Amino acid sequence: MATSGGKSDLRSVQPTFGDMSVATYGAKVNTPAKNPDYFRLFHALLVERAVKSKAGKVVLLDVACGPAQELDFFKDDKRVELVGVDIAQDLLTAAQARLPFAKFFCWDVRQTPPLPSDIAPGSVDVGIALNAMIYVPDKMLGALGYGLRRGGEAAVNFRVFGNPYNEAFYTHYTTRNGVIREEELSLPTARGGTEKFVVAALDYTNCIDLDTGEPDPIRNLVVQMYFRSKSDIERLIGIGGFEIVDSKPFHFQSPVNPDNEIEVYTIRK
Ligand SMILES: C[S@@+](CC[C@H](N)C(=O)[O-])C[C@H]1O[C@@H](n2cnc3c(N)ncnc32)[C@H](O)[C@@H]1O
Repeated sequence: MATSGGKSDLRSVQPTFGDMSVATYGAKVNTPAKNPDYFRLFHALLVERAVKSKAGKVVLLDVACGPAQELDFFKDDKRVELVGVDIAQDLLTAAQARLPFAKFFCWDVRQTPPLPSDIAPGSVDVGIALNAMIYVPDKMLGALGYGLRRGGEAAVNFRVFGNPYNEAFYTHYTTRNGVIREEELSLPTARGGTEKFVVAALDYTNCIDLDTGEPDPIRNLVVQMYFRSKSDIERLIGIGGFEIVDSKPFHFQSPVNPDNEIEVYTIRK
């Protein structure tokens, strides 16, 4: 897949998912959030490990939870206290209606601190962030790192640009006026340096519905970034201060691609 060069401030991108209805979100957004295999292989495993390691309830934080469909799998699990944060209030309102006992906070993880004061640093046992690393990945990891207790684990996923399984995903949008640019992402490190990444930025802002020629609501995704290799992803995770416990490819069907392959990392603080 060819990319054109470009420069934009990827870290200032603010998507407007809340402007899509939850039904449109469900029909358009390519997430494994409702996939029972994803739940079983990653989120459930982490919770089981955490339950064994402490007495009392396990606190699970979902960073960039959106409508939080991934939390529905835990709705009858009394061992788990569910917490979600996202920038889009409308999606959180929908999540709260489905999961009245969960705590949701409208929060931008680019803020300092990266989580609201109701979530004390180190108070979280398990972190999850599903399809979150496409926006401000360092800040998403920063929120997980801030919330998790030492030794706490999280599952995060990435779609590697250039993976042939994902070609159909990108082509779907480029044939609808989406644009893919090569961009540089510079991230500060804990030691005061900078690490650079060349990422593929998928710009949805001119996407149209091919049948009607009208703007497609997928425009609300604005610009998402995709790392180009597993080694870049692992470098990012290292900058975030996490140790990698495990990584596995995961396949799932989504609205625009029958067989996506994503990389799922289990990481430990
Ligand atoms: C692709 S959606 C994933 C939502 C959900 N985890 C899922 O898989 O269905 C990405 C989410 O990131 C949220 N988001 C983007 N930038 C954010 C930020 N700076 N702070 C908090 N949430 C953010 C968006 O509002 C959106 O709900």
